[in-house]
Amino acid sequence: MRIETSRTVETDPVEDHAFNDSAASMTPDWYDVDQPLRSAVAHLASCSSKFNWVGVYVLNGSTLELGPYIGAPTEHTRIEVGVGVCGTAVARNEDMNVPDVTATDNYLACSLETKSELVVLIRSQDRRIVGQIDIDSHEHAAFGPEEERLVRDVAEALGERWLEEPAADRG
Ligand code: SME
Repeated sequence: MRIETSRTVETDPVEDHAFNDSAASMTPDWYDVDQPLRSAVAHLASCSSKFNWVGVYVLNGSTLELGPYIGAPTEHTRIEVGVGVCGTAVARNEDMNVPDVTATDNYLACSLETKSELVVLIRSQDRRIVGQIDIDSHEHAAFGPEEERLVRDVAEALGERWLEEPAADRG
């Protein structure tokens, strides 16, 4: 009887520990449950000096609505699907990596300093497009495979935890 008790006491904490470790590793350290979009934007802006404007647009019907951003204010707070690089990404259902924005017809200028732009779609768990991360750089071709991977990881973390709430509540 004493041995049984001892085994139970020793086993439970080990199982709890394993569960907690695995749960923690599934949430990135930048992720703030109360302000997920803000924390994602702040994290990305801190990742590279080439990321001069970082923002999240939330898809509401056929309109992208600007959420949190870091960088110069933009007049493009609402963008229709199919318009600009941002709207084209949604219309094509694919991420857009534009090494030279001056060579793109369908580009909405946020800042005259912007040379390249990366748009990564955010998809909810059922794979619907719910928004996007938009990053502008003052450098030509600022976004290589490493930058794409970084931004896609953040978009994935947001999408996995996306809830059907108004953009204003997301932080
Ligand atoms: N350049 C984007 C508009 C958003 S600003 O870059 C912040 C576009 O062409 O859709």
